[in-house]
Amino acid sequence: MSDDDKYPAESGRRRFVKGVVGGGALAGVGATGAISVNSLTTASGAGGGTVTAKVVENVAGPAPRGMPQIPIEIDDEGNIKGVWPEVKDKDVQGITIKIAETEDYKGSGVTYTQEWFQYCGLQANNGLKPTYESDNYLLSDGGTKYAWQREELSGGDKLNISDFEGYEEWGNGVGKSGIGKPAMATWRSGDSENPIPVNVIRSDLIEEAAQDNDWLAASTDRGVMAYLNKCSHFCCVPGFKTNSGSAKYDAENKIYCQCHQSVYDPYSIVDAIYTALPRPAE
Ligand code: FES
Repeated sequence: MSDDDKYPAESGRRRFVKGVVGGGALAGVGATGAISVNSLTTASGAGGGTVTAKVVENVAGPAPRGMPQIPIEIDDEGNIKGVWPEVKDKDVQGITIKIAETEDYKGSGVTYTQEWFQYCGLQANNGLKPTYESDNYLLSDGGTKYAWQREELSGGDKLNISDFEGYEEWGNGVGKSGIGKPAMATWRSGDSENPIPVNVIRSDLIEEAAQDNDWLAASTDRGVMAYLNKCSHFCCVPGFKTNSGSAKYDAENKIYCQCHQSVYDPYSIVDAIYTALPRPAE
């Protein structure tokens, strides 16, 4: 069976739209009691507690839920930013804390909050401090697993829409070509030893789905979509088309975590409810 037979473009489009539409119904599936939180510690830290996030859907393996999406914007020069929510004061159990949160993000009806990213130790990461100063550009990861990116970019370069030229046909021998061109990036990390890992994909499947979906229209641009690349199982960094062995798990056209074979579908953005860990007290 050829790759085209396994993953026809038409059916890929339908899957995406179906996944997005079905997001509400799937929300409960993403709920997990695996992470517990002491509400007393919530008050002293910044945020934490039950949150509904937009995630790339977890479709197989032990991961309890998907990985959170990061809304992007593209500036006048074509450079791609991961949007950070608005920083504001919030009253939590009688204590005022700073939190980054945007209600009704760009009219999508979605509350976008830093709490989406508070798992796997990232809740203590400097870059997730609400007030951490950053221009929020997505920077090319020096250790990228994509040959095109190693050849054309250096670690720390801003990712630019022009870097994704040829995305309609791009392929690297893993799975099917023409479903999206990926890049690995860091976000809000400066020269941190523990940078925040992000994956970016530009795909016409994403562009098409955004045409009739308020959230995708608000959070993606020209088919460019980003997500936090941290497995919700035991925090490994998965890969989109980085491992030919992923075909064994039907994951060669998806995001595959090599640690315990969790699979995520970047073309299916759904709601996930989970317990965000509180940030440590300042
Ligand atoms: S599947 Fe276990 S860390 Fe990703």
